[in-house]
Amino acid sequence: MRHLLLFGFSLLLSSAFAASPSSSPSNPPAKPFLWGVANSAFQVEGSPADSDSYHWTHTPGMIKDGSNADIATDFWNRYDEDFALAQGLGANAFRMSLAWERIEPQRGQWNEEAFEHYEQILLAMRARGLEPVVTIWHTTLPTWVAQGGGVLSPTFIKDYSDYATKVVERFAHGNTQVHYWLTVNEPTTYAESDYEDGGSSTGIAGSAGKFIKAIHQQADAHIAAYKKIHALPDSDDIQVGYAQDLEDFQAKNPWNPLDQMALFFTDLMYNKSFLDRVAFALPDSMPALDFLGVNYYNRNIVSFTVHGFVKTSPGTGPVSDTDQEVYPVGLERVLKKVASRYPVPILITENGVADSTDHLRPNFLRSHIHYLMKARDHDHIPVIGYMHWSLTDNFEWSYGLNIRYGLVEIDYANNLKRIPRPSYYVYKDLIQENR
Ligand code: BGC
Repeated sequence: MRHLLLFGFSLLLSSAFAASPSSSPSNPPAKPFLWGVANSAFQVEGSPADSDSYHWTHTPGMIKDGSNADIATDFWNRYDEDFALAQGLGANAFRMSLAWERIEPQRGQWNEEAFEHYEQILLAMRARGLEPVVTIWHTTLPTWVAQGGGVLSPTFIKDYSDYATKVVERFAHGNTQVHYWLTVNEPTTYAESDYEDGGSSTGIAGSAGKFIKAIHQQADAHIAAYKKIHALPDSDDIQVGYAQDLEDFQAKNPWNPLDQMALFFTDLMYNKSFLDRVAFALPDSMPALDFLGVNYYNRNIVSFTVHGFVKTSPGTGPVSDTDQEVYPVGLERVLKKVASRYPVPILITENGVADSTDHLRPNFLRSHIHYLMKARDHDHIPVIGYMHWSLTDNFEWSYGLNIRYGLVEIDYANNLKRIPRPSYYVYKDLIQENR
């Protein structure tokens, strides 16, 4: 947060106000609303390949509870059990990710075994009536990419877009028929944790300049992949988006101009910097986006501090096990803001709560889905689906395995037994009611 003002000014000078959308949000496609759950490869698969995150989890002191993702939930082998649980919810979609490090362990070397295994996973998903939503890159980088400088490397845009095009070519048609693709997950959080705060998984010292460059490089990698994917034959039914983390930022004192300035730059940096770059990227300021994935978790109260830095803190609502405020109306608020600025359909790609005892999750679901339906039906925002994070507990990055996001508990001491929590049944009813 300390470099916030500098980021803001620099973003203003670069891309933030490059253009403004002139049209209103387009109508949602006439397809069934997607009700689903989301996960990511490294957090669930187990048996990880050679990546920066693998090495990071094996560096002493990096993971709060001392755990690692070597086994995780063993989704790599038990995927069908999880698809059966998703089917049991009445879900019709499932968001998962591909591990770049498995598919391309060295530049240009494609691992056929990994392709075939993912094909089996996608076929099993389809057999359970679940529409795949596939994230091409969710946080972890193959070691060869990380060692070459990660997202800041001059070769990153080409390396990433070659990989992205390869996986889309492989899975968009044939039996797997993956229509929904997400290029990047949470680029701003990624840039913040790895390049502003000092490299949680890369060990690179952080700075404001690196943060901005990391945003721009990821955005340009997305744009390059978007163009290459749409240059493939028969790409008309391929939908390319990415997952943007949006927070509902509010000024601590709305009458204090300094708090308002802090709010303006925080919102610009986190909620708009990447989006503005990709949303007006094509000729005639067309978005390099077929739909926008939105990850919404919480509200943050923003204030200006005497040292000229921005401070953010949770508001007065209940907080999760990771101290994030539960603030359901914030979902409608961020959707209204984003839909008025970017004219594309919106898929909620993540929304969930760290809650090991499941005392918050049932109401979290009811209240967030209430505001989601209001956004769709009352505010006419073109929302095409909702993916809850997550179906099962999983490896929560620097917190480790002890932080629980699952509708289904994983009993790590008892052969990874899957035990649905009460909230699993609440979500099941909500899907039924809102189908
Ligand atoms: C990420 C997930 C993460 C979740 C809960 C999102 O930031 O995409 O990987 O586990 O939030 O923190």
